[in-house]
Amino acid sequence: MNIQVKHKSLDTGSKDWLKSRFAARVRFDEPMSAHTSFRVGGPAEAYVEPEDKEDLIQLIRWSHQMDHTYLIVGDGTNLLVRDGGLAGLVINLRRCLKNIYVTRKRPTDVTVSAMAGVRLSALCSFAIKKGLKGMNFALGIPGSIGGGIMMNAGTSTGWMEDVLTAVSILRPSGITEEIGREKLDFSYRQLLWEKGNLKFNLGRPIITEGTFVLFPSDPRTLKAEAEALLKIRRKKQPTAKPSAGCFFKNPASGNPAGELIDRAGLKGKAVGGAAVSAKHANFIINRQQAKAADIIELMALIQHTVMEKFHVRLEPEVKIVGH
Ligand code: EPU
Repeated sequence: MNIQVKHKSLDTGSKDWLKSRFAARVRFDEPMSAHTSFRVGGPAEAYVEPEDKEDLIQLIRWSHQMDHTYLIVGDGTNLLVRDGGLAGLVINLRRCLKNIYVTRKRPTDVTVSAMAGVRLSALCSFAIKKGLKGMNFALGIPGSIGGGIMMNAGTSTGWMEDVLTAVSILRPSGITEEIGREKLDFSYRQLLWEKGNLKFNLGRPIITEGTFVLFPSDPRTLKAEAEALLKIRRKKQPTAKPSAGCFFKNPASGNPAGELIDRAGLKGKAVGGAAVSAKHANFIINRQQAKAADIIELMALIQHTVMEKFHVRLEPEVKIVGH
């Protein structure tokens, strides 16, 4: 997905307010290459890590009042920031929304809430330790709870939408609320938000927390299953190289993207420091000091070749932002 949100630059008064309110928690001209799994990306005009939820609410409300645009980032694992960077604010939720807790315990099922800045892998480990079944599908998927819900992260063995019972959101006005799963509209690799309320005239909310229903099970069995799944993933995917996971969505029907790219003979194809992984063709890896421009050029080359050979339009699953 190529996001073309026009980010407005921050005026001096706004920068001063951010400095006085967030001190060391705000950094100006912060290279996004330090905050994305691709390890590429130009500077964010202001990069803020709110300390707690109150901080976050104040920042969101202020941005809304000042008409400043912001990009929310979790783990930066599905994000490609262009080399020119990002105007406006980048808000990281890792520090302010970092808890996991059990919200209801019954003999038949247990509900667990995880805040948006928690890593998916941390929720998987928490579930295994507590002997709770249902999260193993997410093992090895990079990213945070917030990003995972927004992307409806999943594999052939399960999706976020299967285990989620509710999300807590923060509206740009500063109001928080909980929305039940039945009101959320998920599809492949995306959350389309509230059913019947797709107009964003209220402003796009931020997910602050997800609640999941899990089932009592034996921790040792879950751990063994987890180790086997991770072993397969490491064997099939280039987990040691900087990347954004699978780059393209699988087409709605027909062959998966990885297979099409592979059959087009593109494994190992490189542009500058970026290359198609020789292990799994749907991974673009940052082989050596790639620029975002290298990755974007390689993306276009892959799309063009696959279109020519198979008449299939590949759509990126990675979000491309910046200028
Ligand atoms: N294939 C090839 N060549 C390749 C890669 C794959 O021929 O280089 C073939 C495989 O042999 C297989 C088919 O393509 O027959 C599908 O491959 P795979 O089982 O690896 O699954 P995928 O559809 O490529 C999806 C998710 C992954 C997830 C895996 C495992 C998407 C876009 N990708 O990959 O998610 O890890 O299933 O469940 O839906 C991610 O989101 O970042 C991601 C990697």
